[in-house]
Amino acid sequence: MLTKSLTIIAEHHQYFKNDGDDVIQGLKQTPKNLPPKYFYDDRGSELFEQICELPEYYPTRTEAWILRQYADEIAQITGKSELIELGSGSSTKTIFLLDAYQKKSSLCKYVLIDVSGGILKASVLKLQKKYPNLSINGLVGTYEQTLIKLASNASLSRIISFLGSSIGNFNPQESEKFLQQVADALNPGDYFLLGLDLQKPKDILEAAYNDNQGVTSAFNLNMLSHLNWRFKGNFDLNLFTHQAIYNQADAQIEMYLHCQKSHWVSLEALDCKVFLEAGESILTEISRKFDLENIQKELEVQGLKTIKTWTDPKQWFGLILCQA
Ligand code: AVI
Repeated sequence: MLTKSLTIIAEHHQYFKNDGDDVIQGLKQTPKNLPPKYFYDDRGSELFEQICELPEYYPTRTEAWILRQYADEIAQITGKSELIELGSGSSTKTIFLLDAYQKKSSLCKYVLIDVSGGILKASVLKLQKKYPNLSINGLVGTYEQTLIKLASNASLSRIISFLGSSIGNFNPQESEKFLQQVADALNPGDYFLLGLDLQKPKDILEAAYNDNQGVTSAFNLNMLSHLNWRFKGNFDLNLFTHQAIYNQADAQIEMYLHCQKSHWVSLEALDCKVFLEAGESILTEISRKFDLENIQKELEVQGLKTIKTWTDPKQWFGLILCQA
């Protein structure tokens, strides 16, 4: 049953193919940067799940609260549908939506899309058991590859969901391109449900990305371990420290690895050698924080008109439902 429900559009290793060009490019720049996709090897995905449970990391439980509270209303507005979730991960929060649609018998299909085949397979199996009457399919691949492959289904309205404020990890250009691809995958009348971490005081944001237990630090440093095994590198993790700062002007958290000692690093498989100065910082991630009105304008440019927005009582996180 599972083999029929899991389509591999691109294996995980293909996601990392062209492999390493982006690492070499990033390390050549001043200041140096590394692409955030290298956080997510098996250990990195595990650490991210732990981050979601941290007391300081409010986004996951706040978004879950909003979904629990308003899933019925979302199901009511969107009607008979197929739900396509981008970056589904463990699909924990989506269960609120699935339950709401099940109550109305109005969901015909649920498609999960993720680059990580391992998590996807586990989620598809778990959900097939929980919802035996629902057609559940997993697509392994990048958003770009999979969105193009989604055949249009004129008889059902489509809802594409992108939760967790993952859009915040794209820079403005990447975000614009992504929204265009989403809009292209929708027919007129279809929906897009977007989860967004909202702007808030610096101390709350910085605490969320510099947690007391050091899980985010381990997550950040794990990127170097990932590069070591993937590209035969020799990063010494003891020579780097983690820091996340909120850049108020650009409304984004920036995660850095600060180098403590001048030294050479080599990535043998990439034929790449790079000198790192003591005190130098490598940018590993941005996490943009949004203003609900501004993002609605950006969505509108792509032909995605806001139908309704929901937030939590503190207005820390937002959910936008828009229609093509
Ligand atoms: C996946 N993404 C939305 C997380 C975020 O908050 O930007 C990644 C993360 N990085 C550090 N903590 C969590």
